[in-house]
Amino acid sequence: MARRWLFYRFLIQPLKSHSTVSTRLLRDQAWKYGLYGKRAIDLGTGTGLVAAFLTSRYETVVATDINQRATQTAQLSRELLPDSAKSRMHVVTNDIAAGLRPGTFDFVCINSPWVPAHRAVGRIYSQGGETGFELPRRFILEGTELLAPGGTFIALCAELSFTDGSNPLRELLDDLEQNGFATFIEPTPAPHPFHTAANGTAETLPGLETARHVTAVVQRNP
Ligand SMILES: C[S@@+](CC[C@H](N)C(=O)[O-])C[C@H]1O[C@@H](n2cnc3c(N)ncnc32)[C@H](O)[C@@H]1O
Repeated sequence: MARRWLFYRFLIQPLKSHSTVSTRLLRDQAWKYGLYGKRAIDLGTGTGLVAAFLTSRYETVVATDINQRATQTAQLSRELLPDSAKSRMHVVTNDIAAGLRPGTFDFVCINSPWVPAHRAVGRIYSQGGETGFELPRRFILEGTELLAPGGTFIALCAELSFTDGSNPLRELLDDLEQNGFATFIEPTPAPHPFHTAANGTAETLPGLETARHVTAVVQRNP
């Protein structure tokens, strides 16, 4: 009985929220780009469902999250796996990639919180910092460090461009390109990342010109 309640409270109930859409999207994109290799990692794993899917493609799958309730839920996802897959999935409570050895993963995926702080009050799981890109930036920098030569990293996040010409995601990917990585951005079918206010005007950030939900793909040169 307690197990069934835990299953509902931590696995099914969170899945009924809007986050289900991005979990499904991460699963789809992980399936598209996470094709081969030995070791995969899902940083900020939440329910652990995407990591659980990856056990059918990778020998070792690590799932990390800073939130202990998330890692407890990810453990439940792991318990649902058949024994052969269960032994390949490892759940760790961790601040992004702290303590993990760089250069050792063939596939890294993230769906980091990316909602700007003013839009995500009280929703710690979705808050990405003042503009929404501060936390994704950390996830992208730490996640790409983990890539083995030839490895692939994907991040679901918002691409923001401002009237002063800045585009923090594009600039970060350009820096990575100078340092041994190939990158590209693929728009997702997810809705515009900024809600429209009731009066029909877009509620945005100061100086924001455009915003779209994307998959950023980074490959470490072999
Ligand atoms: C938008 S949810 C995505 C969950 C899951 N990846 C998915 O797609 O369903 C973001 C997750 O990142 C986790 N997170 C936030 N800050 C983190 C950090 N510094 N280190 C690790 N995980 C973090 C949150 O606890 C949350 O579970």
